[in-house]
Amino acid sequence: MIKLIHLYKFLLTTLSLILIAGYSSAQIKQQGVIPQPYQFERNGGSFTFSAATGITIGPGIKTGNLIFFNQYFKSLAGYQLKVKNKGTIILKVDSSKVAGPEGYEVVVTSKQINICGHDEAGVFYGLQSLIQLLHSSDGKITVEGCTIQDHPRFAYRGMLLDVSRHFFAAEDIKKWIDMLALYKINTFHWHLTDDQGWRIEIKKYPLLQSISAYRDETIIGHKRDSPHLFDGKRYGGYYTQEDVKAIVKYATDRHITIIPEIEMPGHALAALAAYPQLGCTGGPYKAATYWGIFDDVYCAGNDETFTFLQNVLDEVLPLFPSKYIHIGGDECPKTKWKTCPKCQKRIKDEHLKDEHELQSYFIGRVEKYLNSKGRQIIGWDEILEGGLTPGATVMSWTGEEGGIAAAKQHHNAIMTPEKYVYLDYYQSLYPGEPITAGGYTPLSKVYNYEPLTNQLSGDEARYIKGVQANAWSEYLPSPARAERQLFPRMLALAEVAWSAKENKDYDGFLKRLRYEQPMLKKLNINAANTFDEITDNVSETAGHQVSLSLSTTLPGGKIFYTTDGSAPGLGSKVYSKALTITQSCTIKAAVFGNGKITGRVYEKSFAIHKGIGKTVTLANQPQGGYNPGNTFGLVNGVFGSKLYNDGQWYGFNGNDLDAVVDLGSVQKISQLGINILKYHWQKMWEPTLLTFEVSEDGKNYTEVYRQTEFNANGINTVRADIKPTQGRYVRVKGTNKGIIPPGEYIAGAKAWLLVDEIVIK
Ligand code: ACM
Ligand code: ZN
Repeated sequence: MIKLIHLYKFLLTTLSLILIAGYSSAQIKQQGVIPQPYQFERNGGSFTFSAATGITIGPGIKTGNLIFFNQYFKSLAGYQLKVKNKGTIILKVDSSKVAGPEGYEVVVTSKQINICGHDEAGVFYGLQSLIQLLHSSDGKITVEGCTIQDHPRFAYRGMLLDVSRHFFAAEDIKKWIDMLALYKINTFHWHLTDDQGWRIEIKKYPLLQSISAYRDETIIGHKRDSPHLFDGKRYGGYYTQEDVKAIVKYATDRHITIIPEIEMPGHALAALAAYPQLGCTGGPYKAATYWGIFDDVYCAGNDETFTFLQNVLDEVLPLFPSKYIHIGGDECPKTKWKTCPKCQKRIKDEHLKDEHELQSYFIGRVEKYLNSKGRQIIGWDEILEGGLTPGATVMSWTGEEGGIAAAKQHHNAIMTPEKYVYLDYYQSLYPGEPITAGGYTPLSKVYNYEPLTNQLSGDEARYIKGVQANAWSEYLPSPARAERQLFPRMLALAEVAWSAKENKDYDGFLKRLRYEQPMLKKLNINAANTFDEITDNVSETAGHQVSLSLSTTLPGGKIFYTTDGSAPGLGSKVYSKALTITQSCTIKAAVFGNGKITGRVYEKSFAIHKGIGKTVTLANQPQGGYNPGNTFGLVNGVFGSKLYNDGQWYGFNGNDLDAVVDLGSVQKISQLGINILKYHWQKMWEPTLLTFEVSEDGKNYTEVYRQTEFNANGINTVRADIKPTQGRYVRVKGTNKGIIPPGEYIAGAKAWLLVDEIVIK
């Protein structure tokens, strides 16, 4: 048997290699399941469905488990399968046969399909796998013979949807719940309240419906743009309690828990607009019309705030059976609390050290209330500020540190680090991508995310309950746009959450993803299909020149490219190895499969100058997401883009830029340049002073240029023509703005200084 399996695997591997080399449509047909099951063996043969095929369901299995399967089946076959006494599809629950909650076994032979679950959820998940295996051809529906043994890696497999920034109709939410279930995601984190709109009916507070659920207008374009432009259209909506009940039932039938999020103490402007007495200054307030973080938050010194929130929760709790209630806790500026007499009195009366402990007091007080109602809280990682309250679960988003800190304190944590699983980030660096938040999280990055870091011992790691991806909706104005952002990256998250670590394999995932494309189409999901497009890497050759490598994951895909700016075609040069770029040029490239162009045209421009590949010494290190991890990017001939997500920008948070480029020998210098990114709405500020200095010996420098004004919103291109000067060392200094001044976005925080490419001619 073992030998046979080996032979089979050998044949399969050989066959796949042949198919990959040829990139035939057979490749697309290779079946599979997302998320990758624990074990999946093909048995040969296949089961063929007919209108007479019946489903037999064992005790403890509700027919509701079949709804989505049957709907999808009917869309393929034109008929629905009936529940019968002696059917050939047999569903049962047997916890002694299948180990582990939510686990299942599927056995497909030519005669029968047996699905056995550890529990009802397991049976349901077996059906979801079966859906993905259905093969439809010439009106015939078949499934290849196979045995699947499967169970989840993590108990918590979550997806957040923000319905405050943009509102999605109940029917869209239901459609996406089906998709969560199809991919075995079992938790829907419903972000219901925020600055831009309150989306859940609370009968005791009717102004939440008439005022907080609407904003006067919405920003057009990106928040970073200046001045802000607005559409002038009132926008909003909310879910009635009846809507919520129906959605919760819909989710429960699909083994999905909905965790509602009622944000506090920050992100509360919409609620304050209706009930201004709950804010520190008493208002007036308006629901926000653009995106960001706002200083006006719930007053922590006013007991009415807590009465309000308790009354709200009293109406929320009966709607949601979830043990966990999310109370936000993130991004709460302390500005207003610092000068509010009530908040300051609270700090004194409660013997709190500062406003951070006031935040902890706030969270703790609400937590106590929820505990008294038999619920537990989840909060974003800022709830660690001023100390965790007992029993709190931390949702680690700013990084993994919050989750690690929580686990070390034996608190449960869920990993949802911004850098890996924020689906509002760009999934492609192509300039044609629809506008979104910022950042860059391609499918592969989500897929390769590993939630259990080696910074935790085995015992501590048990507190990491799972992983979640987040769809913030600032730039998702329509369901179609939201789907393009969520799919297929949500499928990658599903595999991170469900599949065994040792079974993860990105190439295998992509094969299964290509195989599932017709199903996603049939389900009317507007998935992005750009994942096989060209990705690149700009690096330094041994000889300190610029090297560009291109790749595609498309099996059999060939890359053709041009260097003269013309459109690439089958007559262009074939890309076979990394290109050394020695002259300024624009590379255009495209992937061709079966003799046809696939996807969009890739483009990258290089500006070659005297500084390319030269040694750069930085007095201060770049930080956070703007630290490419080397200095080559400052002299690689590639300019950072205005989307600031391409890994080219170097960012200094509160620190100055102080860079010295060593040309290696004394040379004539006649132009010096640098690019500076200025987006005050992203906390990115121009320097108060920029200088260039030149030196022959690296000790005595002469200032050759200075600039104090940088007027463009976006990229400021500094190109200083100087009197031709002999020099070996070029020093560039940029003085950071320091603390963001009052009246500006996130006043009081440290400004970022973003720079790229020191140009020397
Ligand atoms: C968050 O992204 N502010 C949780
Ligand atoms: Zn206050």
